[in-house]
Amino acid sequence: MGITSQILDPDHWQAALAALDWQVEMGLSDWVQEGPVNRYDLPERLERPSETAPAPARTPQTGPQTPQSDPVAVAQRAAAAADSLAALRDAIAAFDHCDLKKGARSTVFADGNPVARVLILGEAPGREEDQEGLPFVGRAGQLLDRMFEAIGLSRQSSDPASALYITNVLPWRPPQNRDPSPEEIAMMRPFVERHIALINPDIIVALGNIPCMALLNEKGILRLRGTWAQALNKPVLPMTHPAYLLRTPAAKREAWADLLALKARLHEIRS
Ligand code: URA
Repeated sequence: MGITSQILDPDHWQAALAALDWQVEMGLSDWVQEGPVNRYDLPERLERPSETAPAPARTPQTGPQTPQSDPVAVAQRAAAAADSLAALRDAIAAFDHCDLKKGARSTVFADGNPVARVLILGEAPGREEDQEGLPFVGRAGQLLDRMFEAIGLSRQSSDPASALYITNVLPWRPPQNRDPSPEEIAMMRPFVERHIALINPDIIVALGNIPCMALLNEKGILRLRGTWAQALNKPVLPMTHPAYLLRTPAAKREAWADLLALKARLHEIRS
């Protein structure tokens, strides 16, 4: 019996579903085809210019790149022009210089309460976030919610004192959840800075290495975690990422110490 007829057979579809569940459990996140597909290939008609058509005249490249083609300069201008969260969301969605955008389903902007005193800065959307268009909705996100609820903070709260605002350095899911490159971080940094300026939180929590790179220009979250730093004139608390805590439950003790330090600092600022 062929695989397709086995799957359609009522005696076999449950086995097929169980096999699929097992693969997802083991970390499968994307379907691949028999052969590689280069999604950045130009369409056929652009690939082969007509043999009779004259070659387009080339503009000589002289001097350094113009600011229009420098992704960081373009991002800086777009971010500076965004005078509201809605305008910033539109500016990010319109930014075409980051290749991650081409492979993503959603531009994941933020979640939570914009008047929150605590802003959580994560790394980049994963598969579930890309599907739902919201940050931290997968397993790591559920752990994040439980961690911060344990010190009385929630993205659902309407009270600024107990609210959270959550965003990421990258609004697009990197393929296979790879780490974003330094160039990708650098070109999205102006948007992160503007986002933080518009929210104006009392405290930023940098979850994992990528936000530490973006805000502090430093890597090594296991060394940085729990030590207060300063960026954009705000106190920054680096903490280990909840995805790391899911893999390394023994590290939850230190994460709890960091949450208590955050709670104490908030109390200090308030009084
Ligand atoms: N990990 C992150 O850093 N951000 C998300 O939104 C989801 C997972």
